[in-house]
Amino acid sequence: MEFENIGLAVIGAGRWGMNHVKSAYKLLNSNLKFVCDFSESAREKVSKVSPLIPFSTDLEDVLIDSTINAVIIATPAETHFEVAKKCLEAGKNVLVEKPITLYTEEAAKLIEIAEVQNKKLMVGHILLYHPAIIKIKELIDNGKIGKLQYIYSNRLNLGAIRSEENILWSFAPHDISIIQYIAGCNPIEVFSKGSAYVQNNIEDTTITYLKYPNNVNAHIFVSWLHPFKEQRLVITGSNGMLVFEDSLKNEKLKFFEKGFRNIDGIVSKFEQDYEVVPFSEKQPLEEEQSHFFNCILKNKQPLTDGLHALEVLNILEQATAKLKNGCITED
Ligand SMILES: NC(=O)c1ccc[n+]([C@@H]2O[C@H](COP(=O)([O-])OP(=O)(O)OC[C@H]3O[C@@H](n4cnc5c(N)ncnc54)[C@H](O)[C@@H]3O)[C@@H](O)[C@H]2O)c1
Repeated sequence: MEFENIGLAVIGAGRWGMNHVKSAYKLLNSNLKFVCDFSESAREKVSKVSPLIPFSTDLEDVLIDSTINAVIIATPAETHFEVAKKCLEAGKNVLVEKPITLYTEEAAKLIEIAEVQNKKLMVGHILLYHPAIIKIKELIDNGKIGKLQYIYSNRLNLGAIRSEENILWSFAPHDISIIQYIAGCNPIEVFSKGSAYVQNNIEDTTITYLKYPNNVNAHIFVSWLHPFKEQRLVITGSNGMLVFEDSLKNEKLKFFEKGFRNIDGIVSKFEQDYEVVPFSEKQPLEEEQSHFFNCILKNKQPLTDGLHALEVLNILEQATAKLKNGCITED
C-alpha cells in the first residue's frame, strides 16, 4: 500500500471532519487508526463509514498512541491552536483545517513548535489541491494570459450561517489562499467593507480589496446571504482572461483571448471566442491528504505549510481591522 507507513488520527468528526474521515479511510483503510471527537454523537457517524474504525472521545488516546504519526484536525477554529500544539508536542505531523488559528501569534508559535519537533505542519487550504487551480497556475506561469493584472473571486450562497465567525473568516480564507498562490507574494495594501443583517455585528457579506506589487490588484466578494450558489474566479492578464466557475456543471474552466492592446498610445480591442480548458477530475480532498502523507514520507515541505497559512491569516486580520471600522449594521 502506498501509505503503509502512515498511521492517522482524525480529530473532529463534524460536518467537514466526516469528509476527512471518509477520504482517509479510502486512502488508508486500517491505517486510519483513530477518529477522536469529544461528542459521543460522532461515534455512530464514524461507525457508518466502517465499524472497524476505532473511536475515542479522549484526545489523550491519540497522543499516547505511538503507531499514530499523523493527525488531521477538523475541530472548530478556536480550538485549532490548543489541539495542534498538543499534537505537535506529542511528535505527530499535523494537517489542521483552515484557518490555522485565530491569531497570527498563535500560528507563528505552531510553526516554531513544528520546526523544533521536526514535524510537518500543513493547513487545509483545499483549493490549492483542486486540479483546476493547479491548471490555472500552470497556465499563468507558462505565459498564457501574459502579464497578470486583476483577480476577483465571488464565493456566494444562501449557506449555513455561523455565529462564532463572520463570512470573511468562513469563506474568504479559500480565496485569499488562491490569490496569494497566483500572485506569488504578499499584498502591499488590504481594505475591506462588510454588512451585517442576520446577526448583530457578524458580517453576512464582505468585499475585500488586495493591492499587490507591479499593479496586480484583486477583490474578494463573499456572502452567505445570496439567492444562489456562485463560485467564480476571474483572472485578467495582458493577453487574455481565465474564468473558473466551480458552481457550473460543465465548462468550468475557460480561457478568453480578450482584452485591449495599447501600442504607441493607440488602444485596440482583441476578442476571440473562448476555449474550454480541460483539467483532471481528481478529488481535491484526496489530493490534499495524499500531499500531506507524501510530505511526511518524502520529507518535503507542504505547499500549504504554516507560513502560507500565516500569510492568509495576516490578510484576514488586516481585513478585519478595516471591516470593524466600517461595518454597515442595524444599530
Ligand atoms: N477546507 C474546507 O473546505 C472546509 C470546509 C468546511 C469547514 N472547514 C473547517 O473545518 C473545521 C471544522 O468545521 P465543521 O464545519 O466540521 O465544524 P463542526 O462544528 O461541524 O464540527 C466540529 C467537530 O469537532 C468536535 N470538537 C470540538 N472541539 C473538539 C476537541 N477539542 N477535540 C475533539 N473534538 C472536538 C465537535 O464535537 C464537532 O463534532 C473548521 O476549522 C472549518 O473552518 C473547512
